[in-house]
Amino acid sequence: MQLPSDVKRVLLSVEAIDVRVQELADQINTDYAGKDLILVGVLKGSFIFLADLARKITVPHRVDFIALSSYNNGSVSSGEVRMIMDVRSPLMGHHVLLVEDIVDTGHTLDYLFRVFAMRYPTSLKTCVLLNKPSRRVVDISATLDYVGFTIPNVFVVGYGLDFADTWRTLPYIAELKESCYS
Ligand code: IMP
Repeated sequence: MQLPSDVKRVLLSVEAIDVRVQELADQINTDYAGKDLILVGVLKGSFIFLADLARKITVPHRVDFIALSSYNNGSVSSGEVRMIMDVRSPLMGHHVLLVEDIVDTGHTLDYLFRVFAMRYPTSLKTCVLLNKPSRRVVDISATLDYVGFTIPNVFVVGYGLDFADTWRTLPYIAELKESCYS
């Protein structure tokens, strides 16, 4: 397979992602049996993961989105998170599952969990595709419910994840060459 020149290696193949997303969906289908669910995807990074996950979820569900902006310089998050687009659905009295691409420092998930908990959902859980625990700054272990893969401390792109808004639509998850972001 011909990789883009900025890509060092494929970390997670199309097949590995598909198998794991099905496993996550199976678990969610079991856990939410008999319940209605609102899936809230965090744009832009989660859009491909959410699209695949939602189509494997068989319990009744709605899909909504939020968009965040974190002040950062390329690959480093400053820890300041702002919501720039909110959900359209009221969350009060509903089972809410936040769907995020990756947890790195933990600032984003920590912020989201606090903001959404204040809206009195019946339940609030999180589903993240990738977990980079070695980079954690905020302890959010209690709010990590469904995790696709735990990965090492490398910058990854593809399957929704970007670097400076590029490489989002690679079908696999790849490690970017350090020279691109260091
Ligand atoms: P956190 O707030 O540091 O946990 O970072 C969460 C956000 O940082 C994610 O939603 C991504 O947008 C971005 N991010 C962190 N690590 C990576 C990566 O390896 N590739 C692409 N984006 C990343």
